[in-house]
Amino acid sequence: NEYQKGVRHLCESGITRIPKKYVLPISDRPLIVKKQEKNDENLNLPIIDFAQLQGPNRCQVLKSLAKACEEYGFFQLVNHGIDSDTIQHIIEVGKKFFELPFEERAKYMSTDMQAPVRLGTSFNQNKDGVFCWRDFLKLSCHSLSSDLISLWPSSPIDLREAAANYSKQTIFLYQLLIGAILESLGIVKEHINDSQNLKEFEDGSQLLVLNCYPCCPEPDLTLGMPPHSDYGLLTLLLQDEVKGLQIQHQGKWLTVEPIPNSFVVNVGDHLEIFSNGRYKSVLHRVLVNSSKSRISVASLHSLPYSSKIQPSPKLINESNPKLYKDTDFATFLEYISSYEHKSKSFLESRK
Ligand code: SIN
Ligand code: FE2
Repeated sequence: NEYQKGVRHLCESGITRIPKKYVLPISDRPLIVKKQEKNDENLNLPIIDFAQLQGPNRCQVLKSLAKACEEYGFFQLVNHGIDSDTIQHIIEVGKKFFELPFEERAKYMSTDMQAPVRLGTSFNQNKDGVFCWRDFLKLSCHSLSSDLISLWPSSPIDLREAAANYSKQTIFLYQLLIGAILESLGIVKEHINDSQNLKEFEDGSQLLVLNCYPCCPEPDLTLGMPPHSDYGLLTLLLQDEVKGLQIQHQGKWLTVEPIPNSFVVNVGDHLEIFSNGRYKSVLHRVLVNSSKSRISVASLHSLPYSSKIQPSPKLINESNPKLYKDTDFATFLEYISSYEHKSKSFLESRK
């Protein structure tokens, strides 16, 4: 089917209207605020200064971190120590990859959700009734062996190097960050028992997703990504200078202002479950626009595949009863590969 070939392929054919397959029902369409109108929908997310977290103000920053995860489920991370060359490089190879001739990109197309390398389109192209305006390249980074890296695209020539370097640096950052997040929940090394030890949080899996949202001739009829929550513990997201990401906050969709060289970090479903609902895995979506294509790179960090996903016993007591059933990764994967997209449905199914 033509649509399985992706949105870039569609754009390369020179369309001026979007095909019916991408047109959302009226109730699901984004309401685009025109430039002239007062723009009060932009959102300044809480900013966490990572360098401060490592210094004498750690306690204060942990409090801000807790507040951000409770109230927004999102924050922007600055001064995180990953250099701008590494960041620019991964964005650059992402751009170049999606600009390759279709035949070259198509070598990596797969509808197998578990494939270690997968070029795909829409949200879940096996299930979506209406398609969304996104192509993506998923790279599994589990263990980052040379065998694994050799499966990644060989073109553009520096993709493997850029992605491997980016993966190493983001894993390192993630490990420090998840340690701080657990500490902000009041959970420190000594508290974590054998059934859920800190190593599981540090040794989890990482998936890199390079997203491409081409210019769209009718951006108010479709979305780059439908409302969804992320499944893992944490997502570290890089966006280029083009706006598009919106999060749901107090019943409204708010646009996240890009801050160059920063990460947008969000709480995933597994962390919401682990925190017994204290930290929120918040719905977000992506708008597209008619003049600029957009690139983002999401680094999804999860517990190891073999781990249980359950509320921490430390966070359950008489005034905080357990809110979620225990689950595991396999149950979750089965769930996502079989469902028709519905917002928040995995978490709802665990209550
Ligand atoms: C995502 O939700 O995973 C991607 C968000 C974005 O492209 O800004
Ligand atoms: Fe997401």
